[in-house]
Amino acid sequence: MKLSRRQTLQLGFGAFLGAGCAHDMSQVTGLALSEPPKDFPVKGQLSLKQRAAAKGIIFGAAGNYQALTQDTDYAQVFAENCGMLVPENELKWAALRPSPDRFDFTSSDWLAQFAKQHGMLFRGHTLVWNQSNPEWLKDTTAQNAEQVLIKHIDTVVKHYAGRIHSWDVVNEAIAADWSKRDDRLHFTTQWFKLLDKNYIDIAFKAAGAADPNAMLVYNDGYLNYDTPHDNEARAAVLKLLEWLKSRNAPIHALGVQGHLDAADKRFNQKKFRDFLSEVAGMGLKILLTELDVSDRYLPADLEVRDRAVAQTYEEYLSVALDERAVIAVLTWGMSDRYTWLTNYSPRSDKLPVRVLPYGADLRRKLAWNAIARAFDAAPKR
Ligand code: G3I
Repeated sequence: MKLSRRQTLQLGFGAFLGAGCAHDMSQVTGLALSEPPKDFPVKGQLSLKQRAAAKGIIFGAAGNYQALTQDTDYAQVFAENCGMLVPENELKWAALRPSPDRFDFTSSDWLAQFAKQHGMLFRGHTLVWNQSNPEWLKDTTAQNAEQVLIKHIDTVVKHYAGRIHSWDVVNEAIAADWSKRDDRLHFTTQWFKLLDKNYIDIAFKAAGAADPNAMLVYNDGYLNYDTPHDNEARAAVLKLLEWLKSRNAPIHALGVQGHLDAADKRFNQKKFRDFLSEVAGMGLKILLTELDVSDRYLPADLEVRDRAVAQTYEEYLSVALDERAVIAVLTWGMSDRYTWLTNYSPRSDKLPVRVLPYGADLRRKLAWNAIARAFDAAPKR
């Protein structure tokens, strides 16, 4: 493993953060660090997608219909920076399937068209998940489950065939669960209860049959930190990928969700880097999906917060982009104006969260610089 380039990117931060923080920040990055560059300087005027593309990497973000249709300033910032659009919610069953016999592509088609119009790739999230499902899905039985699943995947994947880059075929089969099963699979989900772990294999085969050209991805979270849960989740994901390959399921990539926390000091560069190498060693590509950095436990001071968030982006990306199998970096939104963390992970002092590359005022933050710097320092694919 090459450490020299990454070492040059290790930006000291522990001492800087110190006082007033809810967490002990002294080891945020986990390694001894040098003085941080105060302003995360970037060279030139290129956008994030251009900097990424120069290294053979795709940069993109999740966007939702409501924000992109109603907020033209935001839409402009989004299109300027993103080479790929991921619908945040519009391709989930709850959005697409008002009833068992209906498919409503209105909002997802608008997003696909918006992506095309602005030269962005379009990516599908997600064909199977334990959340955001319509009420009627609860009526599915062991007798018709496979047919319901295949019909959904076949229809949706064919609808976008030829205009989609990749699909998150199955999302979070492991992450959310603290299951004591050896394989850590989330066994209380409806699909698991009806079809056992075969639902994962069935989903990949249905997607591959419907569009042989789309990149098919298994996407999961809680894979980033050096905690008992994340360590087990990484091991479980590797086993699941092996199992899928042993079943001849068409799987081409792993999506590693990057919901990071700037106050969490448990990022272990070596463990994470080794994990990426193992995935790459299986012949799979890697997409860094759903990247954002929570500032929930940081002090209120804007400057301190923005630097800590930027530092987290830069350290994470500099480690991850060292792996050439990583082909895409996708943030979970572009501006703090629209982020799920506002509702799902608010600050106790009620201050607006500052977690994405652009602020709620649509001005670039240091997080933008940090991402740009990571692309500029990344090896070419
Ligand atoms: O669309 C309805 C709308 O009709 C209704 O009026 C409104 C009232 O609450 O709710 C709307 O649905 C919300 C939807 O977002 C669209 O805004 C849901 O309540 C809300 O739960 C949903 O949250 C999304 C969440 O996934 C669940 O689907 C977040 O925006 C989205 O960022 C989040 O994304 C997930 C990834 O898909 C998977 N990985 C974790 C990630 C974060 O939780």
